[in-house]
Amino acid sequence: MKIVVVANFDSMSAEVAKMVCAQIQRKPNSVLGLATGSTPLGVYELLVEYHARGADFSKLTTFNLDEYVGLARDHPQSYHWYMQENLFSKVNIDPRRTFIPNGLAEDLEAECQRYEGLIKQAGGIDLQLLGIGTNGHIGFNEPGTGFGSITHVVDLAESTIRDNSRFFESIEEVPKQAISMGIKTIMQAKEIILMASGGSKADAIYATVHGPVTTAVPASVLQLHPAVTLVVDQAAASRL
Ligand code: F6R
Repeated sequence: MKIVVVANFDSMSAEVAKMVCAQIQRKPNSVLGLATGSTPLGVYELLVEYHARGADFSKLTTFNLDEYVGLARDHPQSYHWYMQENLFSKVNIDPRRTFIPNGLAEDLEAECQRYEGLIKQAGGIDLQLLGIGTNGHIGFNEPGTGFGSITHVVDLAESTIRDNSRFFESIEEVPKQAISMGIKTIMQAKEIILMASGGSKADAIYATVHGPVTTAVPASVLQLHPAVTLVVDQAAASRL
């Protein structure tokens, strides 16, 4: 695991955006795995700037890690909306090649299988971006999720519902379930970048790097991946 410690959120975003752009330049038809939440917002802002200065996203394929169950695509807290607002509508990505699980599917199990199949059909993920939950989750794979898991329906942990309630009017509005790529799906990516910013992530980052590899801390599985880079700011790295 390569660890890059930077000063703050802005330098984390700059470092990761640079790595993503290098990947796109190296392989214009890359398959990218994308995350949502607060952590990648600065990266997406910078990718929009790179695009304004000529970077070409037209050959990319993207797969998002997860989506809430039960939120319509145009719900302002859905990850469909988030991606549209923060990246897709602002770069020349082909909408037919941006994939996000459908949290409104009638048959959620079939949707999970379909999504996993689409990733395989695309040839797998070249570069996966990850944030991390305060409880060590990656995607919405909460503590206890098996390392063999593929795209699945998850019950969100109480701590995740609490953490994410900041985006909703009240905690009752936070969906209780999501569809998430599984741990195995994530581990099959050729390269992974895990980002973290802020002191609230320090314990999870410590456990990811120095703790035992255990399903109790899903991100600890990354110790077993051959090409992971952690880009963390000083606050998130404070216990390393
Ligand atoms: C988002 C995702 C989650 C977040 C994590 C951190 O697609 O899969 O694992 O990366 O919950 O969220 P933030 O960045 O909001 O602290």
